[in-house]
Amino acid sequence: MILKVARLGHPVLREIAEPIPEAEIGSADVQRLIDDMIETMYDQAGVGLAAPQVHVSRRILVLEAEGGHPRYPDAPGVPLQILINHEILEASEEMDEDWEGCLSLPDIRGKVPRHKTIRVRAFDREGKRVEFEASDFHARIIQHEGDHLDGKVFVDRMTDMQSLVFLSEFSRFAEEEREAVESAD
Ligand code: NI
Repeated sequence: MILKVARLGHPVLREIAEPIPEAEIGSADVQRLIDDMIETMYDQAGVGLAAPQVHVSRRILVLEAEGGHPRYPDAPGVPLQILINHEILEASEEMDEDWEGCLSLPDIRGKVPRHKTIRVRAFDREGKRVEFEASDFHARIIQHEGDHLDGKVFVDRMTDMQSLVFLSEFSRFAEEEREAVESAD
């Protein structure tokens, strides 16, 4: 089932989400929520979704990005992942700044600094513990979605509001940037 996505201003986006008790991960309710979140992410052409974005204040993330994704055509592929009660164990000092958007802040983009590499521990949807390292776009998605569990959205992480732009202006912005990169070659 496709779920309604909460938009900025709805209080659920500012709450600290509750962890899922380990014994509850296999329950029909949690499994259905995960399926619905995946379906909603696909429907909205997102690369990730956090449960608070579908009005459920619990610590579940889903993410997936195909290579050449329509919203992020230049980003590399990230396989489907379901992360429950995830923790970031380590984060690189090195930061990367890049464009982000959010289904809860439609039609807006901004540049956000994120840790380039993170080490993550979580439960998967089978209730198995997983631990892995993620970097670049993959790490960015996890940090963005993880923020939703702590009542934060990407604009809270921006350090320079000059890059806060409407999507209708963004393509021009990105083109200027590409030109700048090309002329710097
Ligand atoms: Ni978001």
